[in-house]
Amino acid sequence: MPVDWTAASPSLVVHGDNLDATRTLPDGAFTVVYLDPPFNTGRAQTRRSTTSTRSVEGSITSITGFKGVAYERIRGDLMRYDDRFDDYWTFLEPRLAEAWRLLADDGTLYLHLDYREAHYAKVLLDALFGRESFLNEIIWAYDYGAKSRARWPTKHDTILVYVKDPQRYWFDSETVDREPYMAPGLVTPEKVARGKLPTDVWWHTIVSPTGREKTGYPTQKPEGVLRRIVQASSREGDWVLDFFAGSGTTGAVAEALGRRFVLVDSNEEAVGVMRRRLPSASFVVAEPSATGAAPEASAS
Ligand SMILES: C[S@@+](CC[C@H](N)C(=O)[O-])C[C@H]1O[C@@H](n2cnc3c(N)ncnc32)[C@H](O)[C@@H]1O
Repeated sequence: MPVDWTAASPSLVVHGDNLDATRTLPDGAFTVVYLDPPFNTGRAQTRRSTTSTRSVEGSITSITGFKGVAYERIRGDLMRYDDRFDDYWTFLEPRLAEAWRLLADDGTLYLHLDYREAHYAKVLLDALFGRESFLNEIIWAYDYGAKSRARWPTKHDTILVYVKDPQRYWFDSETVDREPYMAPGLVTPEKVARGKLPTDVWWHTIVSPTGREKTGYPTQKPEGVLRRIVQASSREGDWVLDFFAGSGTTGAVAEALGRRFVLVDSNEEAVGVMRRRLPSASFVVAEPSATGAAPEASAS
């Protein structure tokens, strides 16, 4: 049974593989699409057999047609260089194709990665979506947990931001949560009171193990990070889509800001957390398509 879009009252959480869940959603329906996939652990991702082919035939280049030749060549070069990334990208590529199809003409796609994937992904996404569609590389910096003594401790994630149409995308910096000035003595008291507009480097704590937000879901992202994304790149009433919803942070933020959402996760535990966190959403199950086994992918 395909996911029933009209059941989204006011918003929808789908339990299932995100390819199954999204294929019946209408083109261009979402102003924000956020993807926070499991990080590449070096193991092959669990995925449907139909997406594991190395052939570009049937993959994103033939779906979208844009930047096809450059993308194909760059993809080939990078995949030859790193097998583990090949597995990861083969999993992600058809999901990015879907994300792009579902993104509104004034919409923005946010791909949340860790430092090990970010550089390859940037090169591939530029070739795929077009360099002119690249808007930002956001660094989310935190400072928590053990620190290596053998190198600079890695305490950041990278969020790559692409817009469907560089001439038309929605971006409202006025509504974004502001932050304290680093040198408040250098600006007027009015400016200090208002705070400053964040740059592309966001210092924000991880979800506190004892705080209000904590759901217990291991990869939960802080609401403060998602709130800025939703505030800047959508308006009240717009639709927001999260392909890898986990604990439902995107939905919690979208709901509080008056946006509607579709969240997808293949993990039963994640769906259980979202039931508690988002009681007003509708919950449905996406059945696997006939083309593949679509086993559940593991959470990172
Ligand atoms: C890094 S976590 C997302 C965390 C989320 N942003 C949050 O704030 O809680 C990645 C999620 O993707 C889910 N996932 C992995 N493969 C999937 C697939 N093919 N379809 C749907 N969900 C998937 C996992 O179950 C996991 O919950």
